[in-house]
Amino acid sequence: MKKQVLPALAGALMTTALGVAATGGLAQAAGDRPPPAPNGIELPSNYKDWRVIAPSHRPDHGDGSIRVILGNDAAIKAARKGQTNPWPDGAVLAKLVWWDRADENWEPATVPGEFVHAEFMIKDSQKYAETGGWGYARWLGLEQKPYGEDADFAQECVACHTPVASRDYVFTTPATLP
Ligand code: HEC
Repeated sequence: MKKQVLPALAGALMTTALGVAATGGLAQAAGDRPPPAPNGIELPSNYKDWRVIAPSHRPDHGDGSIRVILGNDAAIKAARKGQTNPWPDGAVLAKLVWWDRADENWEPATVPGEFVHAEFMIKDSQKYAETGGWGYARWLGLEQKPYGEDADFAQECVACHTPVASRDYVFTTPATLP
């Protein structure tokens, strides 16, 4: 009996292994999500479809970088109603950063050059109580490499955002709209 069961089992395992390998390959080809940040936060899958809260420019970062701050639906709703202190649980803010580049057709215009990183603040006052109610995560470059050696990387984020603790740790003021 055993002799018959084992090859069948081995066959089943092989099929599963091949299935996993094939799915892994397909998932990567389809541009699947990169690994999570060291604190376990996953890259939000649809962030490129989020709406703009404000752009910003930092001449003090390298030779200058340009940013857009985006929000998921919950964040946009809060921003439009001016209910951003505190931001509601479920709000997620994204910041996409590019190095400055002069527009080849209009030199004085500064436009997005090389992509630097995408970073996120996820509001959940219970889950992220230790980091001021926000979960922090960053992915570097077009390859979206998770930033940070271990989960403690978030302390660096919190430290620099602490000067705006009275604004719920958020620097960005939603841009005025008509
Ligand atoms: C050296 C200071 C500094 C550090 C470190 C820092 N931030 Fe920020 N962050 C800022 C400033 C200043 C802004 C607002 C200006 C701008 O648009 O870049 C900002 C804005 C943001 C925003 C947009 C929402 C907001 O607060 O305006 C997100 C999201 C964000 N940071 C995530 C992170 C994450 C994640 C980390 C850690 C991996 C991090 N930050 C580390 C200074 C910092």
